[in-house]
Amino acid sequence: MRLQVKMNSCASPPSSDQMKKYNFDEIVDRTGTDCIKYDALPQIFGSADVLPLWVADTDFRTPDFIMEAIRKRMEHEILGYTFRGDAFYDSIMKWLRNRHGWDIEREWIIFSPGVVSALTAAVQSLTVRGEKVVVQPPVYFPFYETVRGSGRRMVENPLRLSGNRYSFDIEDLESKLDPGTRMLLLCNPHNPGGMVWKQHELEALETICLKHSLIVVSDEIHSDLLFSGNRHIPWGMLSAESRMNSIVCMAPSKTFNVAGLATSFAIIPNPEMRKKIEKLMGTLHIQTGNIAGKVALEAAYTSGEDWLRQLMEYVEGNYRYLEEFFDTHLPKVKVMRPEATYLVWLNFREYGMKDKQLTRFLVEKGRVGLNNGARFGTGGDGMQRINIGCPRSVLAEGLNRIKAAFDRYENSR
Ligand SMILES: Cc1ncc(COP(=O)(O)O)c(C=O)c1O
Repeated sequence: MRLQVKMNSCASPPSSDQMKKYNFDEIVDRTGTDCIKYDALPQIFGSADVLPLWVADTDFRTPDFIMEAIRKRMEHEILGYTFRGDAFYDSIMKWLRNRHGWDIEREWIIFSPGVVSALTAAVQSLTVRGEKVVVQPPVYFPFYETVRGSGRRMVENPLRLSGNRYSFDIEDLESKLDPGTRMLLLCNPHNPGGMVWKQHELEALETICLKHSLIVVSDEIHSDLLFSGNRHIPWGMLSAESRMNSIVCMAPSKTFNVAGLATSFAIIPNPEMRKKIEKLMGTLHIQTGNIAGKVALEAAYTSGEDWLRQLMEYVEGNYRYLEEFFDTHLPKVKVMRPEATYLVWLNFREYGMKDKQLTRFLVEKGRVGLNNGARFGTGGDGMQRINIGCPRSVLAEGLNRIKAAFDRYENSR
């Protein structure tokens, strides 16, 4: 089936009293586009007959103002080497000022094709083989590959589960640090738990990091996707000292559903650190980037506020739907309430299934594809991550499939 690409055009920005209403209920057929989420189902789950609620992109249309900007640029019909000019940097600086109250300088920003590339570049250029890097599991699993694949040693500082929320285990962290520990990889907002780390939590972590001269590499890719009542605090805003010993990685990819355009950026106020990372990026010759990604970022950060507000209203609605569904129909599943992101961390431990067994059960009996919790490392056992960045009807179908599978399971015992 072909993907429909009828887009609404938006010639001039609407005034605030006639803001455009976006339709997130619309089902857009993504099959046949080589998208990982749908077209790689047989490779990932062993069957195409699975409802995909896994990899972290959304099923919502990339917004019209981004598509229009890309189309306009494509009309030129020469797609040679390009660079990022004022519009790229200005749009990032304005976006960060408006959204987080963070004033940054243009020269602090470096391009990276992906956030994970930037994390790895930071590990490889600011630490040496054999040095230690702290990660805080359960966490976005490429963090592990970034550390181990770079020949660095990993120190695990597991998050502590209290109530239904994770927090930092500061005592554990301090007890594990030694002079060979050079860096900490932070995930804020947290994937998979959805925490937006609070000022006091960040400050407690900051105290230890400063005391032990740990470089903090903060993955803030989900920082635009805030649930109401939450404020994101970029690591670089904590203090001048922390700013000079940190790297903050961000991107428009999750927010505006443009992950396929491989465009992100890192904010590195410390010139020596920046120079080292830029040198590695330059050696790999990956600093060119791509035209569509640059244009998309500029359009997103210039015109994206209203769309994003509507997106998050919809995602929060999806979350309320999910929470009520589990409360009503499957109360044994414990849901971690996210403060950001369209990813929700589900605890199936009461069913007593081991990880592979649980994933197999969900795929074979429920025909749903979630992310296996164990992949996120220590603490992920018996957990699954569900992606609610989809039309509510799709989410409802997925939840009903899970319920039907567990109903049959309970009835057969
Ligand atoms: C916390 C986090 N960091 C990084 C990424 C991936 O970023 P990129 O595709 O820019 O490497 C993801 C994607 O799910 C993520 O959740």
